[in-house]
Amino acid sequence: METKTNQKILNDEEKLKKLKEVIEKYKGTKGALIPVLQEAQSIYGYLPLDVQKKIAQELDVPLSEIYGVATFYSFFTLKPKGKYQIKVCLGTACYVKGAASILEELKEQLNIGVGDVTPDLKFSLDGVRCVGSCGLAPVMFINDEVYGRLTPDKIKGILDKYK
Ligand code: FES
Repeated sequence: METKTNQKILNDEEKLKKLKEVIEKYKGTKGALIPVLQEAQSIYGYLPLDVQKKIAQELDVPLSEIYGVATFYSFFTLKPKGKYQIKVCLGTACYVKGAASILEELKEQLNIGVGDVTPDLKFSLDGVRCVGSCGLAPVMFINDEVYGRLTPDKIKGILDKYK
């Protein structure tokens, strides 16, 4: 994601400066909340609580409303993502071919749950809908890399490449 590039380049101060610019740009505009949250997420990679508070204060919107919007739309995330974002397809074809056991193996290997990130921020784990590679089911992505015809015993070797 392009957000990762921003994350690397910008330090905290620069991120805050950018966030302020975004808020200024939309302040007073109707329906400002979603675009502000989208831009904030592209600056930070996710929506930290401090950022939600700042937006609430500046746009004069209750924090509960921001939380509601951020949890309603699946493209918003309240948790940081890992350097390597693992996405396991849970679409029907993948499910039938054993996606659940792939997900279980990943949870065990990484010691995290779905939607979580490892404490060193290296890996995050998510389930996603059909990614259009049903012929390769079951499928997972690690960032842009696709892995197909997976079996649980292949997972450790794949993860080792990223460690
Ligand atoms: S169901 Fe997994 S790629 Fe289509």
